[in-house]
Amino acid sequence: MNMHYRKVKTMIEPQSIMEGAGVRLKRSLGGDALNYLDPFLLFDHFGSPHAEDYQAGFPMHPHRGIETVTYMLAGEVQHRDTLGNEGSIKAGDVQWMTAGGGILHEEMPQVRPEGNAGFQLWVNLPAALKMTRPQYQDVSSREIPEMTMEGGAKVRLIAGHVNGIQGAVNTIAANPMYLDVSVSPNGSFTHAIPQGHTAFAYVFEGKGSILHDEGQDWVASPRLAVLDDGNDLKIVTEDGSVRFLLVSAKPLCEPIARYGPFVMNTQEEITEALDDLTNGTFIWQEGGLPHERTIS
Ligand code: CO
Repeated sequence: MNMHYRKVKTMIEPQSIMEGAGVRLKRSLGGDALNYLDPFLLFDHFGSPHAEDYQAGFPMHPHRGIETVTYMLAGEVQHRDTLGNEGSIKAGDVQWMTAGGGILHEEMPQVRPEGNAGFQLWVNLPAALKMTRPQYQDVSSREIPEMTMEGGAKVRLIAGHVNGIQGAVNTIAANPMYLDVSVSPNGSFTHAIPQGHTAFAYVFEGKGSILHDEGQDWVASPRLAVLDDGNDLKIVTEDGSVRFLLVSAKPLCEPIARYGPFVMNTQEEITEALDDLTNGTFIWQEGGLPHERTIS
Protein backbone atom coordinates (compact mmCIF):
# COMPACT_ATOMS: atom_id res chain seq x y z
CA MET A 1 0.00 0.00 0.00
CA ASN A 2 1.25 3.47 -0.85
CA MET A 3 2.11 5.88 1.89
CA HIS A 4 -0.75 8.30 2.14
CA TYR A 5 -0.51 11.37 4.33
CA ARG A 6 -3.69 12.69 5.81
CA LYS A 7 -4.75 16.14 4.66
CA VAL A 8 -7.24 18.53 6.23
CA LYS A 9 -10.80 17.61 5.34
CA THR A 10 -12.63 20.35 7.27
CA MET A 11 -11.24 23.33 9.19
CA ILE A 12 -13.38 24.37 12.14
CA GLU A 13 -13.23 27.73 13.86
CA PRO A 14 -14.23 27.29 17.53
CA GLN A 15 -17.38 29.12 18.58
CA SER A 16 -17.50 31.10 21.84
CA ILE A 17 -20.33 29.92 24.05
CA MET A 18 -21.46 29.88 27.67
CA GLU A 19 -22.03 26.49 29.30
CA GLY A 20 -22.85 25.07 32.73
CA ALA A 21 -23.76 27.78 35.21
CA GLY A 22 -21.86 30.37 33.16
CA VAL A 23 -18.51 29.11 31.91
CA ARG A 24 -17.05 30.78 28.83
CA LEU A 25 -15.54 28.29 26.42
CA LYS A 26 -14.71 27.59 22.79
CA ARG A 27 -16.64 24.74 21.15
CA SER A 28 -15.42 23.04 17.98
CA LEU A 29 -17.42 19.79 17.96
CA GLY A 30 -21.00 19.24 19.08
CA GLY A 31 -22.07 22.71 17.99
CA ASP A 32 -23.28 24.41 14.85
CA ALA A 33 -20.12 23.76 12.81
CA LEU A 34 -20.05 19.98 13.20
CA ASN A 35 -22.54 18.17 15.40
CA TYR A 36 -20.93 14.71 15.33
CA LEU A 37 -17.54 13.42 14.21
CA ASP A 38 -18.12 9.72 14.89
CA PRO A 39 -17.30 8.70 17.67
CA PHE A 40 -16.61 12.24 18.98
CA LEU A 41 -19.67 14.11 20.21
CA LEU A 42 -18.24 17.29 21.64
CA PHE A 43 -14.94 19.12 21.99
CA ASP A 44 -14.62 22.17 24.23
CA HIS A 45 -11.58 24.30 25.02
CA PHE A 46 -11.87 26.34 28.18
CA GLY A 47 -9.32 28.85 29.32
CA SER A 48 -9.35 32.20 31.06
CA PRO A 49 -7.30 34.10 33.62
CA HIS A 50 -10.53 35.74 34.87
CA ALA A 51 -12.49 34.03 37.65
CA GLU A 52 -15.82 35.37 36.34
CA ASP A 53 -15.32 33.35 33.13
CA TYR A 54 -15.14 29.99 34.92
CA GLN A 55 -15.94 30.00 38.65
CA ALA A 56 -19.70 29.30 38.24
CA GLY A 57 -18.63 25.86 36.97
CA PHE A 58 -20.80 22.88 36.20
CA PRO A 59 -23.06 22.11 39.19
CA MET A 60 -24.59 18.64 39.59
CA HIS A 61 -25.71 17.31 36.19
CA PRO A 62 -26.39 13.91 34.61
CA HIS A 63 -24.64 11.95 31.86
CA ARG A 64 -25.63 8.71 30.15
CA GLY A 65 -24.29 6.74 27.18
CA ILE A 66 -20.96 8.54 26.76
CA GLU A 67 -17.44 9.03 28.08
CA THR A 68 -16.12 12.45 29.04
CA VAL A 69 -12.40 13.18 28.90
CA THR A 70 -11.05 16.20 30.74
CA TYR A 71 -7.43 17.29 30.22
CA MET A 72 -6.19 20.20 32.29
CA LEU A 73 -3.58 22.75 31.18
CA ALA A 74 -3.82 25.16 34.11
CA GLY A 75 -5.69 25.59 37.37
CA GLU A 76 -7.80 23.03 39.18
CA VAL A 77 -11.25 21.46 38.85
CA GLN A 78 -12.85 19.72 41.80
CA HIS A 79 -15.34 16.98 41.06
CA ARG A 80 -17.67 14.67 42.93
CA ASP A 81 -20.33 12.27 41.82
CA THR A 82 -23.12 9.91 42.77
CA LEU A 83 -20.75 6.95 43.09
CA GLY A 84 -19.10 8.66 46.02
CA ASN A 85 -15.98 9.62 44.06
CA GLU A 86 -14.44 12.99 44.67
CA GLY A 87 -11.13 14.58 43.96
CA SER A 88 -9.49 17.26 41.92
CA ILE A 89 -7.70 17.43 38.59
CA LYS A 90 -4.86 19.89 38.13
CA ALA A 91 -2.54 21.07 35.36
CA GLY A 92 -1.40 18.12 33.24
CA ASP A 93 -3.89 15.66 34.76
CA VAL A 94 -6.52 13.69 32.84
CA GLN A 95 -9.86 12.33 33.92
CA TRP A 96 -11.44 9.75 31.62
CA MET A 97 -14.97 9.15 32.87
CA THR A 98 -17.24 6.46 31.49
CA ALA A 99 -20.74 7.66 32.37
CA GLY A 100 -22.29 4.42 31.09
CA GLY A 101 -25.77 3.74 32.42
CA GLY A 102 -26.00 6.91 34.47
CA ILE A 103 -24.10 9.26 36.67
CA LEU A 104 -24.67 12.63 38.28
CA HIS A 105 -21.60 14.73 38.91
CA GLU A 106 -20.37 18.25 39.39
CA GLU A 107 -17.23 19.83 37.98
CA MET A 108 -16.23 23.01 39.75
CA PRO A 109 -13.21 25.06 38.62
CA GLN A 110 -11.33 26.59 41.56
CA VAL A 111 -10.26 30.21 41.50
CA ARG A 112 -6.48 30.25 41.05
CA PRO A 113 -3.97 33.01 40.22
CA GLU A 114 -3.08 31.18 37.00
CA GLY A 115 -6.74 30.94 35.96
CA ASN A 116 -8.26 27.79 34.51
CA ALA A 117 -7.59 26.07 31.19
CA GLY A 118 -8.07 22.73 29.51
CA PHE A 119 -10.23 20.60 27.27
CA GLN A 120 -13.27 18.38 27.48
CA LEU A 121 -13.95 15.75 24.85
CA TRP A 122 -17.03 13.53 24.71
CA VAL A 123 -16.58 10.09 23.19
CA ASN A 124 -19.62 8.07 22.22
CA LEU A 125 -20.12 4.58 23.64
CA PRO A 126 -21.17 1.68 21.40
CA ALA A 127 -24.78 0.53 21.86
CA ALA A 128 -23.63 -2.57 23.74
CA LEU A 129 -21.87 -0.44 26.39
CA LYS A 130 -24.21 2.50 26.76
CA MET A 131 -25.72 1.14 29.98
CA THR A 132 -22.43 -0.21 31.35
CA ARG A 133 -21.15 0.37 34.88
CA PRO A 134 -19.75 3.89 35.26
CA GLN A 135 -16.00 4.07 35.81
CA TYR A 136 -13.14 6.51 36.14
CA GLN A 137 -9.56 6.56 35.04
CA ASP A 138 -7.98 9.42 36.93
CA VAL A 139 -4.45 9.98 35.75
CA SER A 140 -2.11 12.42 37.41
CA SER A 141 0.32 14.39 35.28
CA ARG A 142 3.38 12.42 36.44
CA GLU A 143 1.82 9.15 35.24
CA ILE A 144 1.53 10.39 31.65
CA PRO A 145 4.49 9.19 29.54
CA GLU A 146 6.44 12.03 27.90
CA MET A 147 8.84 11.47 25.04
CA THR A 148 10.86 13.30 22.46
CA MET A 149 10.41 11.94 18.96
CA GLU A 150 12.48 11.94 15.81
CA GLY A 151 12.08 15.46 14.40
CA GLY A 152 12.21 16.96 17.90
CA ALA A 153 8.51 16.87 18.78
CA LYS A 154 7.64 16.43 22.44
CA VAL A 155 4.67 14.19 23.10
CA ARG A 156 2.55 13.60 26.18
CA LEU A 157 0.92 10.21 25.66
CA ILE A 158 -2.54 10.26 27.21
CA ALA A 159 -4.02 7.35 25.24
CA GLY A 160 -2.83 5.11 22.41
CA HIS A 161 0.64 3.90 21.49
CA VAL A 162 3.78 5.78 20.44
CA ASN A 163 7.11 4.03 19.77
CA GLY A 164 5.85 0.89 21.51
CA ILE A 165 4.86 2.75 24.68
CA GLN A 166 1.31 2.58 25.90
CA GLY A 167 -0.59 5.68 27.01
CA ALA A 168 -1.74 6.35 30.54
CA VAL A 169 -5.41 5.69 29.79
CA ASN A 170 -6.33 2.25 28.49
CA THR A 171 -9.18 -0.25 28.22
CA ILE A 172 -11.35 2.31 26.44
CA ALA A 173 -13.90 0.85 24.04
CA ALA A 174 -13.19 3.08 21.03
CA ASN A 175 -9.43 2.28 21.05
CA PRO A 176 -8.65 6.00 21.08
CA MET A 177 -5.43 7.91 20.64
CA TYR A 178 -5.00 11.18 22.52
CA LEU A 179 -1.66 12.97 22.26
CA ASP A 180 -0.52 16.44 23.36
CA VAL A 181 2.19 17.37 20.85
CA SER A 182 4.63 20.31 20.96
CA VAL A 183 6.86 21.03 17.96
CA SER A 184 9.64 23.64 18.17
CA PRO A 185 10.51 25.97 15.26
CA ASN A 186 11.87 24.15 12.20
CA GLY A 187 10.69 20.83 13.58
CA SER A 188 8.45 18.05 12.45
CA PHE A 189 6.16 15.36 13.79
CA THR A 190 5.02 12.25 11.95
CA HIS A 191 2.73 9.63 13.40
CA ALA A 192 0.65 6.75 12.09
CA ILE A 193 -3.10 6.79 12.51
CA PRO A 194 -4.91 3.56 11.62
CA GLN A 195 -6.66 3.82 8.27
CA GLY A 196 -10.41 4.24 8.68
CA HIS A 197 -10.10 5.86 12.09
CA THR A 198 -11.62 9.29 12.59
CA ALA A 199 -8.93 11.84 13.51
CA PHE A 200 -8.58 15.52 14.31
CA ALA A 201 -5.83 17.90 15.32
CA TYR A 202 -6.73 20.80 17.59
CA VAL A 203 -4.10 23.53 17.37
CA PHE A 204 -4.13 25.67 20.52
CA GLU A 205 -0.74 27.41 20.38
CA GLY A 206 1.16 28.73 17.37
CA LYS A 207 0.79 27.26 13.91
CA GLY A 208 1.94 24.29 11.90
CA SER A 209 1.65 22.97 8.39
CA ILE A 210 0.11 19.60 7.60
CA LEU A 211 2.07 18.08 4.71
CA HIS A 212 0.26 15.67 2.44
CA ASP A 213 0.50 14.07 -0.98
CA GLU A 214 -0.96 17.11 -2.77
CA GLY A 215 0.57 20.01 -0.84
CA GLN A 216 0.24 21.50 2.61
CA ASP A 217 -2.45 23.02 4.84
CA TRP A 218 -1.48 25.59 7.48
CA VAL A 219 -3.37 25.39 10.75
CA ALA A 220 -3.11 28.30 13.20
CA SER A 221 -4.46 28.48 16.76
CA PRO A 222 -7.28 28.11 17.60
CA ARG A 223 -8.57 25.72 14.95
CA LEU A 224 -9.77 22.14 14.84
CA ALA A 225 -8.61 20.38 11.68
CA VAL A 226 -10.66 17.30 10.84
CA LEU A 227 -8.28 14.97 9.00
CA ASP A 228 -9.13 13.09 5.86
CA ASP A 229 -8.64 9.34 5.86
CA GLY A 230 -5.15 7.99 5.20
CA ASN A 231 -2.22 6.55 7.11
CA ASP A 232 0.15 9.10 8.62
CA LEU A 233 -0.12 12.64 9.88
CA LYS A 234 2.90 14.83 9.17
CA ILE A 235 3.05 18.33 10.60
CA VAL A 236 6.00 20.71 10.29
CA THR A 237 6.89 24.14 11.61
CA GLU A 238 8.89 27.02 10.16
CA ASP A 239 10.01 29.95 12.34
CA GLY A 240 7.37 29.45 15.04
CA SER A 241 6.34 26.56 17.26
CA VAL A 242 3.03 24.71 17.39
CA ARG A 243 1.19 22.80 20.09
CA PHE A 244 -1.82 20.64 19.34
CA LEU A 245 -3.88 17.69 20.48
CA LEU A 246 -4.02 14.75 18.10
CA VAL A 247 -7.09 12.62 18.75
CA SER A 248 -8.36 9.60 16.85
CA ALA A 249 -10.64 6.60 17.32
CA LYS A 250 -12.55 3.97 15.43
CA PRO A 251 -15.96 5.24 14.27
CA LEU A 252 -18.99 3.39 15.66
CA CYS A 253 -21.29 3.79 12.62
CA GLU A 254 -24.41 3.50 14.79
CA PRO A 255 -27.50 5.73 14.91
CA ILE A 256 -27.41 8.42 17.58
CA ALA A 257 -30.10 10.28 19.46
CA ARG A 258 -28.70 13.12 21.58
CA TYR A 259 -30.29 15.42 24.06
CA GLY A 260 -27.94 17.52 26.18
CA PRO A 261 -25.85 15.21 28.37
CA PHE A 262 -27.58 12.02 27.15
CA VAL A 263 -26.46 10.29 23.97
CA MET A 264 -28.29 7.10 23.07
CA ASN A 265 -29.24 5.24 19.90
CA THR A 266 -32.96 5.96 19.77
CA GLN A 267 -35.40 8.68 20.79
CA GLU A 268 -37.18 6.15 23.06
CA GLU A 269 -33.96 5.75 25.06
CA ILE A 270 -33.73 9.54 25.47
CA THR A 271 -37.31 9.60 26.77
CA GLU A 272 -36.40 6.77 29.13
CA ALA A 273 -33.40 8.73 30.44
CA LEU A 274 -35.60 11.76 31.13
CA ASP A 275 -38.22 9.55 32.83
CA ASP A 276 -35.50 7.91 34.95
CA LEU A 277 -34.28 11.33 36.01
CA THR A 278 -37.80 12.36 37.01
CA ASN A 279 -38.46 9.07 38.83
CA GLY A 280 -35.16 8.96 40.71
CA THR A 281 -34.04 5.81 38.86
CA PHE A 282 -31.40 7.44 36.68
CA ILE A 283 -28.24 6.46 38.48
CA TRP A 284 -26.61 3.22 37.37
CA GLN A 285 -27.18 0.37 39.80
CA GLU A 286 -26.04 -3.22 40.07
CA GLY A 287 -28.83 -5.54 38.96
CA GLY A 288 -31.17 -2.64 38.26
CA LEU A 289 -32.61 -2.43 41.78
CA PRO A 290 -33.85 0.89 43.11
CA HIS A 291 -30.89 2.78 44.45
CA GLU A 292 -30.50 6.26 45.69
CA ARG A 293 -27.46 8.06 46.83
CA THR A 294 -27.42 11.64 47.88
CA ILE A 295 -24.44 13.90 47.89
CA SER A 296 -24.28 16.07 50.96
CO1 CO B 1 -20.16 16.56 33.12
